[in-house]
Amino acid sequence: MHEGLTIEAPGWWGSLPQILSRFRVGIAAWDSSGIVEANQALCDLTGYSSQEMLASSSIIEELLDGTPLLQQSPGAGDLEKLQFETTLRHRHGHSISVQVWITSVKSDGAEVVVALIRDLLERNEIMSELKTRARQQAAVVELGQRALVGADLSELNDLAVALVAQTLGVEFSKILELLPNGRALLLRSGVGWRAGCVGKKTVSSNRGSQAGYTLLMKRPVVVEDLSTETRFSGPPLLVEHGVVSGMSVVIFGKERPYGVMGAHTTQRRIFSHDDINFLQAIANVLAAAIDRKAVEDVLRRARDQERELRARLEAHARLVVEAQESERRHIARELHDETVQTLTGLKLTLENLECTSASELQVRLARARSLVGELMTRIHDLSLDLRPPMLDDLGLLPALLWLVERYSDQTRVQVALEHSGLHARFAPEVETAAYRIVQEALTNVARHAGTGWASVRCTNSNDALLVEICDDGVGFDAGSTRASCTSGLAGMEARARAIGGRLRVASEPGGGTRLVAELPIERACTTG
Ligand SMILES: Nc1ncnc2c1ncn2[C@@H]1O[C@H](COP(=O)(O)OP(=O)(O)OP(=O)(O)O)[C@@H](O)[C@H]1O
Ligand SMILES: [Mg+2]
Repeated sequence: MHEGLTIEAPGWWGSLPQILSRFRVGIAAWDSSGIVEANQALCDLTGYSSQEMLASSSIIEELLDGTPLLQQSPGAGDLEKLQFETTLRHRHGHSISVQVWITSVKSDGAEVVVALIRDLLERNEIMSELKTRARQQAAVVELGQRALVGADLSELNDLAVALVAQTLGVEFSKILELLPNGRALLLRSGVGWRAGCVGKKTVSSNRGSQAGYTLLMKRPVVVEDLSTETRFSGPPLLVEHGVVSGMSVVIFGKERPYGVMGAHTTQRRIFSHDDINFLQAIANVLAAAIDRKAVEDVLRRARDQERELRARLEAHARLVVEAQESERRHIARELHDETVQTLTGLKLTLENLECTSASELQVRLARARSLVGELMTRIHDLSLDLRPPMLDDLGLLPALLWLVERYSDQTRVQVALEHSGLHARFAPEVETAAYRIVQEALTNVARHAGTGWASVRCTNSNDALLVEICDDGVGFDAGSTRASCTSGLAGMEARARAIGGRLRVASEPGGGTRLVAELPIERACTTG
């Protein structure tokens, strides 16, 4: 007798049947008189009742295709044969692959042989189940890793449907994206569908489709046979492809679902809980990736806006500098061309006065007086051009009235001035912007429009000051002229934008010109 495999049993022998009944492995025990015990699991495995087994001394060996178990007992000393695989014949004739272990128990001097018999199919099924779960886990991990390294959404969708089809062994897999109007779902990615379906076919988002029903239920939906389904109607997409069974889950989103993920077969199939969990796990990885992309998009848009804003600020700063330079050029030209010339004339008039005759002296003095008067007028005009004091002292309306009158005197262009609500004082930057825009626009009319008529309309619309300058002159191509950023028009636009307003120019050759500035009134002051 082999020592290691023999158990010396004390007095628990009586409770052996009860103990054996608890095992899910078939167990038989026999001694020299025949079978003394057979548990329920063995009865289930063989199809015989325990009474039938106890009545026959050799039934186990017969069922095991005549394998002589007693000879292979530990007493026979052949250790290799104590655990082996063989075939068991069921009462109904079919064969079952089994694994057998044998050992012997000594009790009160008598030897009892015990055989454990296990269905190999069951073991194989467990093994294959474990392999399936491992494959499913690997698929979820693979998708998660692609999402983490920042793969784009369509790539992730394609990978997800491929992994689902391959891992579950289904003919069709799909991702349906809920369209912005919420009424339909678009087949965004898929495996197995006929050419031309992906990216084009839609299904309804209500009970007209399995996907729609899944969205309504907000939980997985499993279909065993689509032809007998009553919860929703089979959508053309599934019916046309001969789909019989399937399951679908929601791809959840932060504010609304992104869509539905599904797996379908043309053969009847019952999907297990683990299959559903796998599909939902894949859908959840996609949902997380979609959320992440949405956050990234918001950040990217914010960065783009910031960049654009910075570029606009820089352009604006350039325009302001350019406008200042232009004003300085204007003053310099005025001083050089007019004032200095007049001063030169004055200097020449006053030169060598001591050598001149009394009559000549009178003429020269009269000329000098006239030049000084001219100089005073020029300097006065220049200072008014730079900034008329009435703009600061009296406000926009008096300054505009003065400007229009002076302009008409100097240019012979008649100006019709219309205004409303201008008796209030506005913030200085608003008044200055309005005044400068009218001034530059009228200067342009005189210089370029070739007309004797212009109109200025200035209205206070409570939240903005609207300034409109029109003429019926030659007009110009406003689009291309503004693009070249010449200083007059660009300066007007910069002034409007600097205080949060805008300038619109409408003009075309032969069609006159219309400028409208909209200047927000943030701090309208008291009447003055
Ligand atoms: N009212 C207008 N009628 C016809 N053409 C105009 C009118 N206003 C502007 N333009 C055209 O648009 C161009 C650009 O005007 P803008 O005021 O920017 O520059 P400018 O008057 O030529 O020079 P400046 O920098 O001294 O103002 C002008 O040269 C002219 O051709
Ligand atoms: Mg100009």
